[in-house]
Amino acid sequence: MEDRVRNIIIKYGSSILSTDTFKKTFEQKHHLHLTVGDHTLGVTEEAVKMCLKRGIIDSPTLKNVVTASLCHDLGIMGRNEKFKNVIECHTMHPEESVKVYRELTGEDDPRVVDAILHHMFPIKPGRPKYTEGWILTAADKKASVKEKTGTKVISDRDRMELLSC
Ligand SMILES: [Fe+2]
Ligand SMILES: [Fe+2]
Repeated sequence: MEDRVRNIIIKYGSSILSTDTFKKTFEQKHHLHLTVGDHTLGVTEEAVKMCLKRGIIDSPTLKNVVTASLCHDLGIMGRNEKFKNVIECHTMHPEESVKVYRELTGEDDPRVVDAILHHMFPIKPGRPKYTEGWILTAADKKASVKEKTGTKVISDRDRMELLSC
């Protein structure tokens, strides 16, 4: 991961990365052999890279993108107890993630909520309304494809640096 990308994730995401809730995501499997935590960090990296590529460098947007990326799948934690089946998990985890975002940050930014709620588009109907949502939706798909084809896994160094910030 580029230093610039890592520094942006730490700057805007350290208050989430340092929580027990976030650290627990490295205990639940996701996309075959990865964990929810590794997927989340991969998505956040892709999302920040997309922002920089498009010249999106303003603090409010970067903060929203990092926050939404780090929280977008937190509602999937405890999936076996929370959801009856895979379809229910797919359709309901964004709403659950919004709850975790609000609890974890004490914030309720409409642009972050919109991004988390609609990150499954177009698999789940409902388009994102804002830039943050489109970035997250694209980054989630890109990271997932890389994970499933085994071409991208967050490095031990990046994971350690991000979790110890
Ligand atoms: Fe998701
Ligand atoms: Fe995801």
